[in-house]
Amino acid sequence: MEPDDTKLQFDDDGNLRHLLSLRDFDATLLTRLMDEAEAYLTAPGALPARNHSLAGRTVGNLFFEPSTRTRASFDLAGRRLGADVLNLDVNTSSRKKGESILDTIYTLEAMQVDIMVVRDASDGVPAYIARHVKDHVSVLNAGESDVSHPTQGLLDLLTMRQHNPDFGNLAVAIVGDIQHSRVAMSASEALRAMGVGELRLISPPALIPDASRFPGAVIVDNLADGLRDADVVMALRIQRERIGNLDGIPGIDEYFANYGISHESMKLAKPDAIVMHPGPMNRGIEIEGTLADGPRSVIAKQVTNGVAIRMAVLSRIGKMMSAQ
Ligand code: NCD
Repeated sequence: MEPDDTKLQFDDDGNLRHLLSLRDFDATLLTRLMDEAEAYLTAPGALPARNHSLAGRTVGNLFFEPSTRTRASFDLAGRRLGADVLNLDVNTSSRKKGESILDTIYTLEAMQVDIMVVRDASDGVPAYIARHVKDHVSVLNAGESDVSHPTQGLLDLLTMRQHNPDFGNLAVAIVGDIQHSRVAMSASEALRAMGVGELRLISPPALIPDASRFPGAVIVDNLADGLRDADVVMALRIQRERIGNLDGIPGIDEYFANYGISHESMKLAKPDAIVMHPGPMNRGIEIEGTLADGPRSVIAKQVTNGVAIRMAVLSRIGKMMSAQ
């Protein structure tokens, strides 16, 4: 996202028009979105929340990178708000035949798709599309290269708030391939806006990020230093698909021994600390399987919160559209 793209996200009245990044979100907006999402959560076993706030709208899911949970989550969120949802099959899409992304977008616009949910491996694609769509169309970033994954950042924030709403007293440790992680980027933008007590980013030396991308965070390459007395521990996958040269990247056993989140390494964190992972997870590499399935894990909660957060974002976009 370029500096002037800030204006792109909000309309003249300050309403959310496109969701490209959390960079410019303040605590008030983040809190409102989390509150709106909470209203969509129902008790286990109860039917999921539904309304008609997107009735008549069409959501297009354009995932030009693999996805299971984010795509399914946007799909369900759109349907539960009464929208038609179109899931574009990337393997058979005309982009494979060399069609430009804008031609794909203009084709969908011509079919009256008015909310485009986009995932792409290149930087700047969601903002580029947002700059070219018609005035009544909204673009939601569902994962952009290693730059931004705003709905993931929101759902992670909500999951942390459910554990402890006092962000100022929270120590959050994110462990793994920070350098290539859009999840770490969006989470850190959201946490900074909420005034998080401490954000620690832990990764092997070869995957240490550029500190200027994470202002205020403590960056370490030693797991014990990062985990000590943490309230929240989030494990991340090594983004092998984004790493050109794997030299210096630890192998599986070495990685688990030094950076794996396990029952053993969690002894360093606070006794009630929660364990998070955005998925897809590699058991036995970045996280011990029984820990991921155990009582400290909120991984399934993250997924549930993901649908609620996407419903909150979509219904806000729907309201903005109806007011136009
Ligand atoms: C992440 C993603 O795609 O950025 N997963 C997700 O959206 N739940 C993390 C990853 O791929 O490792």
